[in-house]
Amino acid sequence: MLLKNYTSHILAFSKCLILSFFIVLTACKTETPHERTIERGKIADSIMVVSAREEASRIGAEIMRKGGNAFDALIAVDMALNVAYPFAGSLGGGGFMVYRKANGEVGSIDYREKAPIAATHDMYLDAEGNPVDSLSRQGPLAVGVPGSIAGMFAIHEKLGSLPMAEILQPVIELAENGYQITDNQLARFQYYASVFDKVNEKETLYSIGFRESDSTKIKSGDLVKNPQLAETLKRIAANGKQEFYEGETAQKLVEFIQNHGGIITLDDLKSYEAVWRKPIISNYKNLRVIGMPPPSSGGVCLAEILKMIEPYDLKSFGHNSVKSIQVITEAERRAYADRSFFLGDPDFNDIPIDSLTSKDYAVKRMTNFSFDKATPSSEVKHGVISGYESMETTHFSLIDQYGNAVALTTTLNGAYGSKLYVDELGFFLNNEMDDFSVKPGEPNMFGLIGAEANKIEPQKRMLSSMTPTIVEKEGKLWMTVGTPGGSTIITSVLQTILNVAVFDYGMQEAVDAPRFHHQWLPDVVTFEPDAFGKELLDTLSNKGYEIRQENSVILGKVDGVLVLPDGSLEGGADRRGDDTAVGF
Ligand code: DON
Repeated sequence: MLLKNYTSHILAFSKCLILSFFIVLTACKTETPHERTIERGKIADSIMVVSAREEASRIGAEIMRKGGNAFDALIAVDMALNVAYPFAGSLGGGGFMVYRKANGEVGSIDYREKAPIAATHDMYLDAEGNPVDSLSRQGPLAVGVPGSIAGMFAIHEKLGSLPMAEILQPVIELAENGYQITDNQLARFQYYASVFDKVNEKETLYSIGFRESDSTKIKSGDLVKNPQLAETLKRIAANGKQEFYEGETAQKLVEFIQNHGGIITLDDLKSYEAVWRKPIISNYKNLRVIGMPPPSSGGVCLAEILKMIEPYDLKSFGHNSVKSIQVITEAERRAYADRSFFLGDPDFNDIPIDSLTSKDYAVKRMTNFSFDKATPSSEVKHGVISGYESMETTHFSLIDQYGNAVALTTTLNGAYGSKLYVDELGFFLNNEMDDFSVKPGEPNMFGLIGAEANKIEPQKRMLSSMTPTIVEKEGKLWMTVGTPGGSTIITSVLQTILNVAVFDYGMQEAVDAPRFHHQWLPDVVTFEPDAFGKELLDTLSNKGYEIRQENSVILGKVDGVLVLPDGSLEGGADRRGDDTAVGF
């Protein structure tokens, strides 16, 4: 019964993931100790930003060139993505950031959206108790209380060095002067224009000129200006965090949401706080992996999977070989089963993080794994923890000239979130409420099944898969990495790290390499199309793995920076999008 809705959920998810044009990157070749020739991505001496848009990467790199640090730059990049990447970057959403300072200090901040005070556990169920998917995915009830601005100001206060007004200035100019529409963006806006009109009950900045019927059609390469967002950012630059949570912007935002039938109030905004959290630290061979803790499942699942696969010699099995795919898939299956049962907002749940990420537990979890055949997900439940009592996204990576590193993933959830566009303020609102377990056992937009730990409760944060990650090698900064991709985020980050750590790939090669994904339920392994041979897939199929390959599916859009042995930086900007590395 649990599987009944999967096909439609996965198809809906696939539609969001449209194959993108390849980008051309500055490349150079280096030899590995095993004489593999690495095709490197963008190389720079000391500053590197890799994000979903060239404008955002450039603005961040310029902030650092002017003497700003990685934290000033991240605010500029994040805000520039609001302007140039409204698909996912938005003041109307939230996110997570993991950092490592030049002195080795690490930390993380959670500015995830929260359920409104008036939210109830059954708010998306009909009279028969069945979920009404559209309510948690589109329109006013889908919106969680946005955290982005609280996050940016908390980061600025603790770690920034330049004045906020100086950081925001180039972003305001971008909004006023316009950003260039890419082919990918044009296709998406055209696809969604009629949806924006329907949800908003009027035309918006992102429907005018994008609809089939429009006579003044916007073309690829045209500039799109967002003067409303420029004004919002100017007020935020002048008045600080309270402008968004208590000031004129807050008033306008609440009025807009309530006029559309939403339940977010001024009290919701006023009581929102970003939270500094202790990162999840784990070891994999000679690497120390610094990940995002709950309410993201990213750090815990990544650590758990790495621990489960550590005893296996993937290198001798070969990259994307049958045996490597089996080990990784089986570890993913078990970690996602645990995710479903144990993980949720840590402020509402007691989560056995130490046990889940321990070596002993990993060994126990893999005892029933065999290379002979797949372990059916129906036979994999969450693990047993003794003493346990209870319950469209974008990522950028950057390193500054001082040695500070940042991994930041931020989201509206689906493409353009709830599709509600606050025209007066110039941004889209998230549909993050769908990341809650709307009803135990029912899959969400990403096919993920949740339980008690992730049920809706007032002011609770919904569980996430976002996995901004920093990796040290032999005590030194080595990589900063992350990706969008819903439930596939964790497994894409995992494979990217393994590609470099185990298979000697460069950063660019690692993010470009074909990926596969398993998430316990549905019990299928998804492969990117045209990248895995028929023989390999047939072998896996004969061992009991159900294979899914669809033309439109891409798994993540990973952006990372790797510190090379000579101290220079390699940016890896995923070929699957318009992602661009800018460095100096
Ligand atoms: O927090 C999460 O896990 C999801 N809201 C992320 C959504 C996402 O990555 C969509 N992008 N492709």
